Amino acid sequence: MPATVIVGAQWGDEGKGKIVDLLALDCDLVCRYQGGPNAGHTIVVGDETYKIRQIPSGVIRGKTCVIGAGCVVDPEVFLGEVDTLEARGHSTADVHVSGEAHVIMPWHVAIDQGMERRLGKLQIGTTKRGIGPCYADKAARLGIRVQDLLDAKILRQKIEVALAEKNLWLERIYGVEPLELEELAERLEGYAQRMRPYIADTSLLVDSALREGKAVLLEGGQGTLLDLDHGTYPFVTSSSTVAANAATGVGIGPNRIDSVIGVTKAYVTRVGEGPFPTEIEGPDQQRMCDLGGEFGTVTGRQRRCGWLDLVALRYAVRLNGITSLALTKLDVLSDFAEVPICVAYELRDGTITEDFPAHQSDFHHCRPVYEQLPGWETPLTDGLPDAARAYVEFIERSLEVEIAMVGTGAERERVVALR
Ligand code: GDP
Ligand code: IMO
Ligand code: MG
Repeated sequence: MPATVIVGAQWGDEGKGKIVDLLALDCDLVCRYQGGPNAGHTIVVGDETYKIRQIPSGVIRGKTCVIGAGCVVDPEVFLGEVDTLEARGHSTADVHVSGEAHVIMPWHVAIDQGMERRLGKLQIGTTKRGIGPCYADKAARLGIRVQDLLDAKILRQKIEVALAEKNLWLERIYGVEPLELEELAERLEGYAQRMRPYIADTSLLVDSALREGKAVLLEGGQGTLLDLDHGTYPFVTSSSTVAANAATGVGIGPNRIDSVIGVTKAYVTRVGEGPFPTEIEGPDQQRMCDLGGEFGTVTGRQRRCGWLDLVALRYAVRLNGITSLALTKLDVLSDFAEVPICVAYELRDGTITEDFPAHQSDFHHCRPVYEQLPGWETPLTDGLPDAARAYVEFIERSLEVEIAMVGTGAERERVVALR
């Protein structure tokens, strides 16, 4: 009864969408277990490009899709995605949203924007989709859940109670316009009507599928270093992104998960603020960004680019229990004569370490120790040349984890299966 987690091993945007789309071919169910429309997963099929934020990537293959209890759902984004997918000929009839998932309300979005503005130079660089404020209300037990959409009276009551406080914040703390109860309640009731057929007991649904011997993919949003507990706090997202949370996030036992595939780029990118030891300085920064098309799916922001960081990747292997890796975007490195790879950090006191620093000050001030690997300077259209293969094997040896597949282009079929 195989359940496989697909987890981002870096700071997000590793190409999870593409790998999920590929593996979904042999799967029955694809579930998101955390996060919300802060995610942006791009899937390229022939001339068609899909950018999905809220619905699992398996929808493109027509698989049963689940948005689990650990997720946050923006009904406007969800329904917008439903409309776009349906218009492009993809049915959403088999998409199911947990009633336990939390609803991102317009005040969450407004507060996210207000908080970032107030932080100024200290901002996190969030996607401004209301993720943090929604998870904060969930933890404070003030949240509105997807199942609350099923009862118009309860919904209106909850909105009224919440708004009495949220509007004070919006006006007095963030200096923006308050939200109007009638307009908001009406808008949400409209969304609720349309959401109704998608709401389900998704824990039961996934459990039944596993019992029937179906193959289930658990698709992570964001990445390991954005994990609320184990990431580069406070420059993280507000959910637990790591593989162990996949069980909680969909409502199954941890013993149902039998493999964890970590997705990593052949280099590193990061959107938003926060420390980034292997960030490239000089003209190669822009070069890498242009070669990799590194612009955010959700916000359009330019992603910061860096060389592959084996210290951080080793940490991701440990935290997630990664059983194999998918290495994406190796083709982007084809342009470089030499490829630096970070094998250790030098800490402020001169210590050299291969382990991710437990203290954030050490991480903030560490210097990457690089090895230079020869580039291949040929496109990867006909498999992997020796130097590219050597790069892959170097990573495998350093981390003691197999690389099962290598991405050589954005299109669906641009993958080399090594194992
Ligand atoms: P996700 O958030 O992890 O799903 O990743 P994104 O979709 O945000 O970002 C990955 C980007 O790289 C997308 O534009 C993909 O189309 C693209 N991509 C994925 N795999 C490859 C690959 O192997 N090579 C190249 N050149 N592009 C890729
Ligand atoms: P996918 O699923 C890359 C980053 C934001 C910011 C931090 C907090 O496409 O890999 P949030 O809006 O979550 O409160 O922002 O997390 N971030 C992502 N970066 N890919 C993502 O998702 C991200 N989702 C959030 O840029 O630094
Ligand atoms: Mg993305």
